[in-house]
Amino acid sequence: MTAIETKGLSKTYKATRAVEDLNLTIENGELFALLGVNGAGKTTTIKMLSCIIKPSSGDATLMGNSVVTSPLKVKEIINVSPQETAVAPNLSVRENLELMCGIYGYDSKTAREKTDKTIKDFSLSEIEKSRARILSGGWQRRLSIAMAIITEPEILFLDEPTLGLDVLARRELWRIIEKMKGKITIVLTTHYLEEAEALADRIAIMSRGKLVAIGTAGELKTLANAGNFEDAFVALCGGEKTYENE
Ligand SMILES: Nc1ncnc2c1ncn2[C@@H]1O[C@H](COP(=O)(O)OP(=O)(O)O)[C@@H](O)[C@H]1O
Ligand SMILES: [Mg+2]
Repeated sequence: MTAIETKGLSKTYKATRAVEDLNLTIENGELFALLGVNGAGKTTTIKMLSCIIKPSSGDATLMGNSVVTSPLKVKEIINVSPQETAVAPNLSVRENLELMCGIYGYDSKTAREKTDKTIKDFSLSEIEKSRARILSGGWQRRLSIAMAIITEPEILFLDEPTLGLDVLARRELWRIIEKMKGKITIVLTTHYLEEAEALADRIAIMSRGKLVAIGTAGELKTLANAGNFEDAFVALCGGEKTYENE
């Protein structure tokens, strides 16, 4: 079954074509990566799919619901861990999770039960009373993902979940993401090639707002006739290797 289908999805900001005529299909239960250098259009795509911004043209359906005509239905079945981690700095880990349950309208008993389970699943018990602002970047990201999953979305968006983390924190988060794999549909964006290669069932490479290739890491290597994934990525992006203001 199809979880997400985009049809000519596009977003233009004045002179910038941030996303141009995106056509892709993501299956239910897939862990799908949008891979591209900074400025490729990944966040703009996530924002359109999660109804934070409206497309300039085109449409996308999530479990059959259009982001253009049924954004409220879409919002019910998704959740997002945004690129700029959105945790409330002065609330504790537990309070952040309960706040998210409140936003989704759970009663206090359900909120407590869900919070207890999520704290256990994400191994947050040691820090549940700590204010979010004192947590390291890795723990804040973990909390941000926990806050997105606590509402049991059918589709979860993770925008650059390991941006700026050290290698150990990154590997920890990879393990958490791997545990969720197959249970729900996950769309992850990253500019880390090894992250897409390690985690994703399929990868869509975006460059300058356009989809340039889609497939498994192995398929993309074959397509580019490259010995490793990095060479395949560079070749598919047109040999452009410079990263914009990282
Ligand atoms: N609110 C905005 N106003 C103007 N331009 C934007 C805005 N958001 C993104 N852009 C531009 O759109 C392009 C794609 O950005 P973005 O989707 O954030 O890329 P990525 O997430 O892949 O780094 C970039 O050129 C960026 O500068
Ligand atoms: Mg981004």
